[in-house]
Amino acid sequence: MKDTVFSGVQPTRNLHIGNYIGALKQWTHIQQQHHCYFCIVDQHAITVPQDPAQLRSRILTMAAIYLAIGIDPKKSILFIQSEVPQHTELGWLLMTIAKMGELERMTQFKDKSRKGGAISAGVGLFGYPVLMAADILLYDTTIVPVGDDQLQHIELTRVLARRFNERFGDTFVVPQPLIQKIGARIMKLQKPEEKMSKSDEAEMNTLFLTDEDDVIRKKIMRAVTDSSAGISYDLESKPAVSNLMIIYHHMTGLNMKEIEKKFTDQGYGDFKKDLAEQIIEHMSPIRKKIKHYLADPAELNKILDAGRDKALAAAEEKMKLVRAKMGLGR
Ligand code: AMP
Ligand code: TRP
Repeated sequence: MKDTVFSGVQPTRNLHIGNYIGALKQWTHIQQQHHCYFCIVDQHAITVPQDPAQLRSRILTMAAIYLAIGIDPKKSILFIQSEVPQHTELGWLLMTIAKMGELERMTQFKDKSRKGGAISAGVGLFGYPVLMAADILLYDTTIVPVGDDQLQHIELTRVLARRFNERFGDTFVVPQPLIQKIGARIMKLQKPEEKMSKSDEAEMNTLFLTDEDDVIRKKIMRAVTDSSAGISYDLESKPAVSNLMIIYHHMTGLNMKEIEKKFTDQGYGDFKKDLAEQIIEHMSPIRKKIKHYLADPAELNKILDAGRDKALAAAEEKMKLVRAKMGLGR
């Protein structure tokens, strides 16, 4: 049976290779067999302050990225969250069955609100996971491909779906997360004990999808390695080189044994040099395609219009049922 897949990325900053390997790369494979929705979640982005003009431009860039990595608008539905208002409507309805305690436990909320403390953190940031649950539940999603930092949000989505079904009768499908076996958590190039992140201030930690070839070479050559020599995969004792090997695996398709074999008796320098070239070979066509799509906004807009219309139709059908189950309106 065909699964229904939903995933999304926030149009904030630049996407990095962790986003690509942990989330987006899986999408291109899944779309071959399943019914997929890929969303640009701009309403999640505004849970932290955004510059409006910049946000708009990043939304279009994100659409170009989705297409450039291989999302096929003939197979998948690509759309912008804020253009389908049923997301926020369902978000509100689910807010009435979610519990404060459940949201207070969310690691992402705790991290993002750490600076100013819970008192000054935005209510939007607090309710963020409920809107995410709405995104997923609106489309009877069965599978949600994400990086492992989103697992807690998917678990909450499952709890809310079950709670709603118990209270109002069978309405929502309870979705499953889909996490990459290797690469669900790409680490910083300079600090392999921490997750690579968009908001990192140290530029050398993060490889962006838009980095030019010479920048890729520089960042990879400067990536830290482990104290013991040799190219071998062991996340515990060799976290730095294992992280680089995971990237190598995703760029080439070679498995860990094959990579180890290829680099027996070679040093970190040789390995990193080759890794940089593999990344360039994989990423530079994507970079060119991003530019190509951005140069022709008419085509992008046509794709986003069509995606919006399909998502709107599915979302409204679901919302009719939800409103009736809850006894809203007439
Ligand atoms: P975000 O950067 O939080 O918008 O995340 C977008 C998607 O990329 C989500 O599915 C994340 O789980 C995934 N992701 C973010 N950072 C990483 C990382 N360092 N390694 C693997 N996946 C990641
Ligand atoms: N919270 C996700 C992130 O930060 C983005 C997101 C929003 C999402 N809604 C979603 C991911 C629905 C999967 C499904 O990466």
